[in-house]
Amino acid sequence: MSIHNDARKITTQRLTEMKQHGEKIAMLTAYDYTMAKLIDQAGVDVVLVGDSASNVMAGNVTTLPITLDQMIYHGKSVVRAVKRALVVVDMPFGSYQGNPDTAIASAIRIMKETNADCVKLEGGKEILESLKRILSAGIPVMGHLGLTPQSINKFGSYTVRAKDEAEACKLLEDAHLLEDAGCFSIVLEKIPAKLAGQVASELQIPLISIGAGGNVDGQVLVMHDMLGLNKDFSPRFLRRYANLADDIHSAVQQYVADVKSSDYPNEQEQY
Ligand code: KIV
Repeated sequence: MSIHNDARKITTQRLTEMKQHGEKIAMLTAYDYTMAKLIDQAGVDVVLVGDSASNVMAGNVTTLPITLDQMIYHGKSVVRAVKRALVVVDMPFGSYQGNPDTAIASAIRIMKETNADCVKLEGGKEILESLKRILSAGIPVMGHLGLTPQSINKFGSYTVRAKDEAEACKLLEDAHLLEDAGCFSIVLEKIPAKLAGQVASELQIPLISIGAGGNVDGQVLVMHDMLGLNKDFSPRFLRRYANLADDIHSAVQQYVADVKSSDYPNEQEQY
């Protein structure tokens, strides 16, 4: 039986089995109870409580301002809703970089207070000590390489990363470092598909792409983008599966018109 048709809770081990059996992993972001329940019931394998909540929920320009307390709030809301998918919570900027003591304290707070299954960290060699410290506490970690949005001020733009040989070599080295340290999976964001395919073929752990092509073990998208809730964001890798921005606009326009014309509520819609 494919894991997709199996109602049991997804674990990190089952994601590795999916890679071994060539079964692709479907991952989406969620930040609140209602949407998390819908996407879990629709069969997504991994729900990421992404720090993209900073952009899509709070309207910040980058992911940097979101705090550990805010990530914990979103994590708790999502975990309450999800029965089957693996729930990953992003560690926010400033909660793990450069200080293993801060990193372990932040990761423990996330695990204790949200009840999530694991955490995700951005970066390679630079965050290795923090990563090892978190793993030493038995907390499963998903890595994140390529375009790592918490480093946007270093990169200067959201363009494709690792196009030149030096950056591609570093990414490959970092991917091996993360696997050797004990990460159970890695997200590859906005890098050439060929490089992502090479990483996926050299590593035993599953590689999940966002804008890194199809030669990997799974895909992740920001839910608001794939549902067409955000019309201002149209990168090449984004496939829209709905146009909810338009649906919501017309529904609200209709509601306003109905209230103004006293069509709503009618006799049946009152007590
Ligand atoms: O925060 C997020 O949504 C992410 C995805 C882009 C992978 O990290």
